[in-house]
Amino acid sequence: MNKPQQALHTVFKAACASAAVIGLVAANVAHAADAGNGKVLAGTHNCAACHGVNLNNPVSPEYPKLAGQHSDYVFWALRQYQMGNGNPHLGRNNAIMQAQVQSLSPSDMKDIAAYIESLDGGLVQKK
Ligand code: HEC
Repeated sequence: MNKPQQALHTVFKAACASAAVIGLVAANVAHAADAGNGKVLAGTHNCAACHGVNLNNPVSPEYPKLAGQHSDYVFWALRQYQMGNGNPHLGRNNAIMQAQVQSLSPSDMKDIAAYIESLDGGLVQKK
């Protein structure tokens, strides 16, 4: 038992939690995702050409279903395609998707992610 060390650990954890919350709030203030604009962007970028009607009916099995996916996951996936081979640790190496995302800004990707999350889809979560 080492009480002072435990107390320090608790303080450290609390500090981390506050920092995380502040970071989250700052990110939201910087750009509140706009699903309406995301829908427009998904249309102009022809995402449905591969991911299908409502981004829920992929035209081929190797194209994933997107509708209803969590927006934070989608945003990160799009960022990973943008990083591509340039970042071997974090990037996603897929030539097709890399080509789709090059012209998107971070706020475009947040808007698209919010739009995708807002869609009803066939993805299910099993527990
Ligand atoms: C030419 C076909 C094509 C088009 C157009 C296309 N995609 Fe994709 N998309 C793919 C393929 C293929 C994959 C799987 C890539 C892989 O294996 O990493 C994919 C994967 C994804 C993923 C990752 C899904 C997951 O579960 O990890 C997201 C998110 C995504 N696409 C979003 C989009 C968005 C948004 C657009 C429009 C801006 C778009 N795609 C346009 C073919 C396409």
